[in-house]
Amino acid sequence: MGASLATHHVLFLVWFLPVAFSLSFFFFKAESISNVSCNEKDKQALLTLKRGLTDHGHVLSSWSDHKDCCIWDGVFCDKKIGRVSELHLNNSGLGGEISSSLLQLEHVNYLDLSGNDFNGTLIPTFLGSMYSLTLLDLTSANFSGLIPHQLGNLSSLRHLSLWNNSDLYVDNLRWMSGLSAIQHLDLSDADLHREVDWLQIMSKFPSLSELYLHYCHLDSLNPSLGFVNFTSLRVLDLSGNHFNHEIPNWFSNLSSSLLELYLTNSSLKGNIPPSIFNLEKLELLDLGLNSLNGPIPSSIGNLSRITSLYLDQNQLNGTIPKNLGLLSKLKTLYVGKNSLTGTVDERHFQKLSKLKDLYMSEAPLFFNVNSNWVPPFQLDRASMNSIKIGPNFPSWLQSQRSLRFLEMSMSGISGKAPGWFWNWTSNITVINLSNNHIECDVSDILLSSTVKLLNIANNSFYGPISTFLCQKKIRKNKLEVLDASNNLLSGELSHCWKYWQSLIHLNLGSNNLVGRIPYSMGALVNLQSLHLQSNSIYGYIPSSLKKCSNLWFIDMGDNHLSVIPLWIGELTNLIVLRLRSSEFKGYIPQQICQLSSLRVLDLANNSLSGSIPNCLKNISAMALPNFNIISFSSMSFIYSYIYGSYVENVHLVPKEKEMEYEENILLVRLIDLSSNNLSGSIPTEISDLSELRFLNLSRNHLMGKIPEKIGSMKELESVDLSQNHLSGEIPSSMSNLTFLSLLDLSYNNLSGRIPSSTQLQSFDALRYIGNPQLCGDPLPKSCTIEEQSLNRSPIGSVEDDSKNSSFYIGMGVGFATSFWAICGALFFNRTWRHAYFRFADEIKDWIFVTTMIKMNYWKR
Ligand SMILES: *[C@@H]1O[C@H](CO)[C@@H](O)[C@H](O)[C@H]1NC(C)=O
Ligand SMILES: *[C@@H]1O[C@H](CO)[C@@H](O)[C@H](O)[C@H]1NC(C)=O
Ligand SMILES: *[C@@H]1O[C@H](CO)[C@@H](O)[C@H](O)[C@H]1NC(C)=O
Ligand SMILES: *[C@@H]1O[C@H](CO)[C@@H](O)[C@H](O)[C@H]1NC(C)=O
Ligand SMILES: *[C@@H]1O[C@H](CO)[C@@H](O)[C@H](O)[C@H]1NC(C)=O
Ligand SMILES: *[C@@H]1O[C@H](CO)[C@@H](O)[C@H](O)[C@H]1NC(C)=O
Ligand SMILES: *[C@@H]1O[C@H](CO)[C@@H](O)[C@H](O)[C@H]1NC(C)=O
Ligand SMILES: *[C@@H]1O[C@H](CO)[C@@H](O)[C@H](O)[C@H]1NC(C)=O
Ligand SMILES: *[C@@H]1O[C@H](CO)[C@@H](O)[C@H](O)[C@H]1NC(C)=O
Ligand SMILES: *[C@@H]1O[C@H](CO)[C@@H](O)[C@H](O)[C@H]1NC(C)=O
Ligand SMILES: *[C@@H]1O[C@H](CO)[C@@H](O)[C@H](O)[C@H]1NC(C)=O
Repeated sequence: MGASLATHHVLFLVWFLPVAFSLSFFFFKAESISNVSCNEKDKQALLTLKRGLTDHGHVLSSWSDHKDCCIWDGVFCDKKIGRVSELHLNNSGLGGEISSSLLQLEHVNYLDLSGNDFNGTLIPTFLGSMYSLTLLDLTSANFSGLIPHQLGNLSSLRHLSLWNNSDLYVDNLRWMSGLSAIQHLDLSDADLHREVDWLQIMSKFPSLSELYLHYCHLDSLNPSLGFVNFTSLRVLDLSGNHFNHEIPNWFSNLSSSLLELYLTNSSLKGNIPPSIFNLEKLELLDLGLNSLNGPIPSSIGNLSRITSLYLDQNQLNGTIPKNLGLLSKLKTLYVGKNSLTGTVDERHFQKLSKLKDLYMSEAPLFFNVNSNWVPPFQLDRASMNSIKIGPNFPSWLQSQRSLRFLEMSMSGISGKAPGWFWNWTSNITVINLSNNHIECDVSDILLSSTVKLLNIANNSFYGPISTFLCQKKIRKNKLEVLDASNNLLSGELSHCWKYWQSLIHLNLGSNNLVGRIPYSMGALVNLQSLHLQSNSIYGYIPSSLKKCSNLWFIDMGDNHLSVIPLWIGELTNLIVLRLRSSEFKGYIPQQICQLSSLRVLDLANNSLSGSIPNCLKNISAMALPNFNIISFSSMSFIYSYIYGSYVENVHLVPKEKEMEYEENILLVRLIDLSSNNLSGSIPTEISDLSELRFLNLSRNHLMGKIPEKIGSMKELESVDLSQNHLSGEIPSSMSNLTFLSLLDLSYNNLSGRIPSSTQLQSFDALRYIGNPQLCGDPLPKSCTIEEQSLNRSPIGSVEDDSKNSSFYIGMGVGFATSFWAICGALFFNRTWRHAYFRFADEIKDWIFVTTMIKMNYWKR
């Protein structure tokens, strides 16, 4: 009984308070409950229902024959008539079969089965005979198949919600015309594309107030219709469809009561029709993430009640109309990621006294306000990356007392940070001023305990880093992300790391740091990524770092370090280990093979000697498909905050050219041991690394044969074995490497005929030269007269998969542009998802991508 009391607040009072006060009162109340006792027919119907259901969570344990069914969990009775009226069975872990005994419950008007798992079964048709229903909620219940026409018989239904089921679809929607009382209709995620007249059908419901049809595979808004009149529509959500045409004119007279209109991510093209801004009651308009071009119409000033306006991620051009400044109720304004040009000044914000959330990033705008401007608003978030704000430091910020997210990366700000600035940041959570030309003595930086992320990468911050790390006034910091890379920081890494234990991501790369890595850095037990590359740090890597067991990312390249420590094998979460060009000597320790999650092993350009460990196949992330996906998602390789994220970056040389990687690093599997003094032969076990994409062993002293089974490394895109002493024939299995787009075997002692395949003959002869005994196409030297004709490179294209796959791997660099450190929430949420969707099935990491998408969905 305890369980049932907890959920029935009324009964809770009825039972418990009396117990506390007096026993007689208790009995009196108990009696009064008995007079709402449940109808026997209803009780039997519910018990039959229970028998059909699977109830792993024992949520229905209160449903027992000897108890009044009106006090069962999730069951509510109409006290007047003593009949069951509502069933709240949402999120109860139920599954199994829904019995038609429900039909006995003639007075049930509320049936909520959302958030259960009916294992992809059909929605029961008999639900269409529960004529008293006013609410039917089957959201997220894992139903699939045809939505039964019978539901159209529910003429009293006011609320129908079927979104987020696995695979629902309709053949037509004519049956819906029977839903004459419907007010709230949500068919999102169901496939409605078979009904071309969906719009005409939906617009006939006299009381329809909220219509949600996102991700419904709709492909037309019938732009040819002159007129669509939804009488009482207040919310219309058509996001996530693929309309591929212009915004139809009928939107402007859609409904005089419309409050919210969502057309996000719906492949809309063309201009924004000025008349859409005549929907004068509109409070929310989302046209983001489409392909709209042309200007923002100045009729925008008519949206006098708008509070949220999303026009971001289109191709809008022209200037932002000054009328925007009239929208006095505006709280949220997203115009970023467009081609908008011109100047934004005080007039654009004239009456925007309620503005809280401004996303203006990544548009060629010039934010040009007077230095003594006092804005009418108090922002919570200013996302103004990659728009021109400088050269002067934006002094209007000083008036903002409640700002929590400040993003002004790449905004042309130069010169000294004003004296008030660091004091002013005391309430801020995220500060991103990266990619500017700000000059600042690091000892001036103040960090209150509210600051979680400080990104000042790519500026001119100077001074000894110890004065920053050790100062008393910032010892209480709770910083989680510090990126001060590409500045002029100097001196030794201090011994004050114990004050920085909240750090998760630390990037001090490309500064003028000197000295050893201090033992005290082991205090950073929360650290997940550590970048110290491109400094003048020397000596041993202290063993205290093995206490940083959450590390998945280490970049210590371009320093003067000594040996790769044996304990590195204890950092079993490592995914990226970049130690290139850092003067490492000695052997590659066998312990490196304990790093089973490792995807990037870059030890190139050191003085490593000895042989390549023959245990590399133990690096499961390179050997097994989909290895470690789960622990990935639990790892914050992207530091996300409410409006955006901080993404790691690293420079690698996958195919001769240096490339910058961000989140796409997780698509890479790379071993680069080039330019060392490695000797011995290439271990044959290396061919077990079937997930490896980039292998570079060039410029060593390797001998022996190329492993016979190299052809089983099916994912290889690039193989560079040049400038070694390899001998024997090129294994014929190599012709199986269909993704190979770079191969260099030059300057070895290879002999015999180059195997023929679409790939191997497509490479320049220079990739094979310096092997005097090698012959056949593409080398000019033929093997024998007879063989020559057999050996011709096959006619046909070689540009198939290999090109594509290298394009995808490289693409992060392209789409991330040069603005790399923090991207706005939408960049991350939408574009990232968008871009990666296209090739999600090309890559092996699709599960990871899906995880990310789910995470983002949830975030939004
Ligand atoms: C139930 O009992 C209460 C208190 O005894 C009484 O006021 C009420 O009228 C009863 N209701 C019915 C439907 O009998
Ligand atoms: C079921 O839905 C109701 C109304 O939305 C909500 O108050 C209740 O918390 C939900 N129950 C569970 C178990 O989630
Ligand atoms: C949904 O149903 C399918 C069977 O159709 C099942 O494989 C899956 O595990 C169920 N649950 C979820 C959450 O998809
Ligand atoms: C779920 O459905 C699948 C077929 O789609 C079936 O194999 C499986 O047994 C069902 N699971 C349960 C618990 O009914
Ligand atoms: C959609 O349904 C699935 C189960 O089928 C659930 O895991 C997921 O959380 C639901 N999504 C939302 C946004 O409710
Ligand atoms: C319910 O709907 C179906 C399909 O739309 C129809 O064939 C049937 O006659 C209806 N039943 C009743 C009782 O109205
Ligand atoms: C839309 O329909 C309603 C009811 O049918 C009517 O009162 C209203 O005038 C119509 N709106 C327009 C713009 O025609
Ligand atoms: C906006 O882009 C269109 C092409 O999409 C072009 O014709 C037009 O001239 C551009 N307008 C401005 C102001 O740049
Ligand atoms: C920090 O926030 C508090 C309360 O919101 C406010 O009173 C104070 O002025 C703010 N401080 C700064 C420096 O903005
Ligand atoms: C920082 O602000 C505090 C009060 O908010 C003030 O007492 C202090 O003098 C300020 N420091 C500087 C350097 O402006
Ligand atoms: C190429 O791969 C196929 C199947 O994947 C295999 O049967 C064949 O032996 C391989 N060829 C060579 C030369 O290894």
